[in-house]
Amino acid sequence: MTHALNKWWLALATTMMLIMGYQPALAEDMADTKMPSLYDRLGGLMPISVVVSDFLDAVVPDPMLNANPAIDAARKRVPTPYLKYHVTAQVCQVTGGPCQYQGRGMKETHAHLNITVAEWDQMVTLFKGVLAKHNVPEQETRELLAIIDSTKADIVAPAMN
Ligand code: HEM
Repeated sequence: MTHALNKWWLALATTMMLIMGYQPALAEDMADTKMPSLYDRLGGLMPISVVVSDFLDAVVPDPMLNANPAIDAARKRVPTPYLKYHVTAQVCQVTGGPCQYQGRGMKETHAHLNITVAEWDQMVTLFKGVLAKHNVPEQETRELLAIIDSTKADIVAPAMN
């Protein structure tokens, strides 16, 4: 009985040592394998520009958003290709790509539009639909939604927040 117990302890101790011994090596391996940038995982500028273009083609004529007279007026005044250019550069830059966003800040650009939380949610729904249509994987979708979400406080009008 004592003999069997000793063997059991020996096996347990060996297993623990193996696990503990291998852990630092595993951690080093994991640190070595750097995750590619979101920009690269999305496939670079070509697919990003297509997704942004489709997104704006969904968002610009959306009746729910254009029921807001300030949004509707700005849509009629600001050319969609201009927005596509700026949003593509923005997404390219923030995902780790080689672009430089040259447009204005999000607060300044959207302040006069009185964007509500409901309108924000509608835009997110349209964005998710476009990402799904292009089969953007779950992880990359999560990261893109987090990027969009980080601009919410600047874009939704303070009184509507
Ligand atoms: C409900 C949400 C949104 C609506 C209704 C909306 C609407 C608009 C409109 C109407 C303009 C033109 C404004 C003007 O010049 O008078 C604009 C500009 C712009 N928006 Fe949005 N937007 C929304 C969210 C976003 C988000 C989430 C982003 C990116 C993270 C974004 C990026 C831009 C950029 C880059 C411009 C152009 C900036 C410039 O002219 O320098 N927008 N947006």
